Parts: sequence; structure tokens; C-alpha cells
Amino acid sequence: MLNIEIDGKAVQVPNGSTVMDAAHKLGIYVPHFCWHKKLSIAANCRMCLVQVEKAPKPMPACATPVTDGMKVQTHSAQAVNAQKGVMEFLLINHPLDCPICDQGGECQLQDLAVGYGASNSRYTEAKRVVFHKNLGPLISAEEMTRCIHCTRCVRFGQEIAGVMELGMIGRGEHAEIVSFVGRTVDSELSGNMIDLCPVGALTSKPFRYKARTWELSRRKSVSPHDSLGSNLIVQVKGEKVMRVLPLENEAINECWLSDKDRFSYEALNSEERLTSRSMAVRPSALSCRRTPRSRRWGSRRGSSTVLAATTSISGCGNRTFAATGTRRAFRGSACRSPRSARSIARSSSAASCARIIRCSRTGFAKRRRRARRSRR
Ligand code: SF4
Ligand code: FES
Repeated sequence: MLNIEIDGKAVQVPNGSTVMDAAHKLGIYVPHFCWHKKLSIAANCRMCLVQVEKAPKPMPACATPVTDGMKVQTHSAQAVNAQKGVMEFLLINHPLDCPICDQGGECQLQDLAVGYGASNSRYTEAKRVVFHKNLGPLISAEEMTRCIHCTRCVRFGQEIAGVMELGMIGRGEHAEIVSFVGRTVDSELSGNMIDLCPVGALTSKPFRYKARTWELSRRKSVSPHDSLGSNLIVQVKGEKVMRVLPLENEAINECWLSDKDRFSYEALNSEERLTSRSMAVRPSALSCRRTPRSRRWGSRRGSSTVLAATTSISGCGNRTFAATGTRRAFRGSACRSPRSARSIARSSSAASCARIIRCSRTGFAKRRRRARRSRR
């Protein structure tokens, strides 16, 4: 164990810890952008500069290993001057569009600019503009001028998602985040890049301009889509689900969330969603005059779909899937009883659906036997 003193408070940390780890153990906040507890250390934003005793210049807390007897000041005049200098550089090109930015209210840069930013800029030269990128249907990269090159999104793809879909090209003022050879971001965890981006460069396309973060109320929940049971927070405005974010749980999903859990809330508000159990049934579906293909597949397919529909109805109560499933089931069903058809359309109870399955199976089997006999 190593002894270190931060802002006059002593703490012991294991070998290999960084000054940032020690500060967290003491509950001392060191301003940062590129550091993230789940990602490797890049130390490229320099916002975490702190004063280390006997060091000739401020050191990045996230990348400085602790040595025994080290004394660190995170809020001394030298440290704060260094942090303010970094902030001034970061704000040179960052647009002042906080009033319309989706990240407004939950932006690390916005928060830290209050403490470390100046009220005016000394930079009078031309500012740089980075053109938008198409990263697919989930992530919006329309305002890449906001990017501060922390490379969190790049490291996430490489280290957590296992697919390096984003990278940084160019150097200095010409550096920009791009996807590989114009491809979109398709990993199943891509939405986490939105959470990781400390500024509003990467935002959620489905949530874009729908609500401000302070208008949303939060409900803790558990993912209904798979057996993982990821913990999540459902953010609601009025009676409408506007956004789903991960709820940190080290034992299950850590601080990540799959795209399915994150974006499937869109189906709840979809205009295509069926909101009642009644539905139109095609007259042709009620008769036995079906195509040879449906006759061939009807019984097997129809029954399993009814089963799926029954599970949905009695399980999560998602009527969209349930109703769609039932309708499909009915189209492919071999049962020709109009009463059964109507009860499929009307019913949501598991018992009556089970009756229909039996009915459709028996009906199909009977007709098949009859056809065989007549052929003989
Ligand atoms: S897009 Fe966001 S996460 Fe990626 S490097 Fe830029 S600021 Fe960092
Ligand atoms: S947080 Fe340390 S350099 Fe970025």
C-alpha cells in the first residue's frame, strides 16, 4: 500500500493506483473529460492537471501513478490556473449553442465551464468547423465541431464493444472523429457512446430535440427484453417515455446498456402500435380457400405464433406484439371455425388461445386424413 496526501487529507491506496483513484477514494473531485473508470487512460484532455509537490509543472491526475509519500494539491493556485488554461483552449472552437444542444443540462463541459471558463475569449482568429458525419440511425453526429477529442467513443468501441467503429484522423487542429471508411456504427452497444460523450458531439437520434433533461422525471426499471435484466432508468415527460438510460449496477450491466434496451421504447409511442385488441379479420382468412403454401404451413406456423401471442398477452402485456402475433397466427391458421376466428381476434386470455391452437391442429389433421382417404 502507498501513502498519499491530497489537499491535506491522507489516504492509503494499492500499488499501481493513480492520483485520480486516490482522489476518488477521498471523495475529492478532480475536473476531467477523457478519464472514465471503465476505459483505458488516454490523458489527452489535460483537464485534470494538479499540483504535485516537487514536480516542475502540473501533472495529469488520471495518468500520474501514486508514489509513497506523494503530496498533491488539486485546488491550489497553480492547479486551478492550469485547469483554467485548458478550459480556455477547449472553448476556442466549441460552439456556444448550449441553448439548443441536446446535452444542455447534463454536459460536463457546460458544468466545468462555469467553474473554470472565462466570461470572454481572447481568441480572435478564424474558428474551425467540422462537418457532420452519418453514423447510422441511432447516433447523431451532426455537430462534430463540439467534439473535444477526448476519444472516449473510440476507446469504448475498441475496449468494451469489441468493434472499433470510430477512430480519430488528422492531428492538432485537423483532428476529427470519423467512422471507418464512411461506414455507419452498427454495434449492438453503440448507444453507450452517446452517454460517454462528455459534450454534445454524439447525441441520440430518436431523442433529438424531443425534450430538455430537466423536464424529464425518472423511474428505475429492469430491461424486459432479455434474461440479463439490465438495470435502467426510464425518463418520462408527461405520460410519454422519452428516453431510456442505463442504471449503474456493477453485478449486472455495469454502466452500459444494449441498443435494444435503450431504443425499443420507441415502439411504445409508435403510431403503428395497436392500442386495443379488436382487429379486422379478412373474410378470406375465415374460409378454407387458402393458397397451397398456407395450407402446407398453416397448422404448424399458426399454432406456434398463437402460442407466442398468448405468452406476450399474459406476460408483458405488450399489445402491439400480441395483436400482431395473433393476426399472423390467424392468417396461417388451419382452423376454419368462424367462432374460433372471432375469439382469436377478441380474446387475450391464455385459456381461449390454447383452445384455438387445439382447434386449428385438429381441424388440419382431420382434413389431411380426409384428403388421403379420397386419394386412395
Ligand atoms: S465525439 Fe464526444 S466522446 Fe468522441 S472524442 Fe469527441 S467529445 Fe469525445
Ligand atoms: S482526464 Fe486526465 S487528461 Fe483528460
